[in-house]
Amino acid sequence: MSRNKVTVIGAGNVGATTAQRIAEAGLADVVLVDIVEGLPQGKGLDLAEAAPVVGHDSRITGTNDYADTAGSDIVVVTSGLARQPGMSRDDLLVKNAGIVRAVVEQAAKHSPDAILIIVTNPLDAMCHVALSASGFPRERVLGMAGVLDSARFRTFIAEELGVSVEDTHAFVLGGHGDTMVPLSRYSTVAGVPITELLPPDRVKALEERTANGGAEVVALLKTGSAFYAPAASTFEMVDAILRDRKRVLPCAVLLKGEFKTNDLFVGVPVVLGRAGIEKVFEIELTADEQAAFDKSAAAVQELVDKLG
Ligand code: NAI
Ligand code: 2OP
Repeated sequence: MSRNKVTVIGAGNVGATTAQRIAEAGLADVVLVDIVEGLPQGKGLDLAEAAPVVGHDSRITGTNDYADTAGSDIVVVTSGLARQPGMSRDDLLVKNAGIVRAVVEQAAKHSPDAILIIVTNPLDAMCHVALSASGFPRERVLGMAGVLDSARFRTFIAEELGVSVEDTHAFVLGGHGDTMVPLSRYSTVAGVPITELLPPDRVKALEERTANGGAEVVALLKTGSAFYAPAASTFEMVDAILRDRKRVLPCAVLLKGEFKTNDLFVGVPVVLGRAGIEKVFEIELTADEQAAFDKSAAAVQELVDKLG
């Protein structure tokens, strides 16, 4: 059996931490790519030198050359800029779209059968760029956000109720932004919806903290954004695909009529397996939930329209 190969583009905080998790789990050989010379090679070497201590046989290499990524099963895209002082959200949108387009074109050329997992922000709009730059079918282009947003919701639910995070379950749908939709009715502790365990004002407070989860970490770090939970979430998607686990995870996918949305990447639950998105897992939304979902989709559409 041949070894799995995962390319991680962007050897920054999220990329390097994702590479570490994949390698240390023995899930795949990892190729770390960055535009900065020496950075992926240095981090790759450092991670490889941890292998004897950690005890795994995954090969980890760093490169600036896409030829080294050839034949990857999965390509994770984390390359991008953080917002700099004086840079508007729209400037960032355009700059990161240029980066995502360039790296996806290269990666897709060398790994035409790969599954793409996009992480770069603004997430849902970057998935559109990746879909067009790769020419891949929608089954093989997905974005990481819902797993992270749901993990944050689970953390807050567990903390609030004093229970193990393991016994929590949460679904957060919609775009990865302020308008995301934490679905409390489907968020549970040991199968019991949190709406039956907490008063409405506490449920609302947890939903709001979830929607603000990324900004809460940025406000503390000041010079960067979250990366441990984002890397763990990306790893969960890689694991579901490579081990064909048919996990039901919220991911950004190109909707084709599901959830009353067409031709737009938005976060919804999907079945993830070796073929990528194997099924969009459609669930019934109440009128209020659908309205919140539509509002979130409209925010994504606005960014996509700006990209033209
Ligand atoms: P970072 O700044 O630590 O790393 C970004 C890396 O991309 C840098 O090493 C940089 O040299 C590299 N890069 C830039 N242009 C490149 C190019 N053309 N080719 C190859 N590499 C290039 O940033 P971090 O913290 O790793 O975040 C990465 C991205 O992921 C950001 O856009 C961030 O907003 C996003 N993000 C998204 C999350 C989500 O839920 N979808 C969660 C966390 C971060
Ligand atoms: C987050 O949610 C920055 O999108 C990133 O932490």
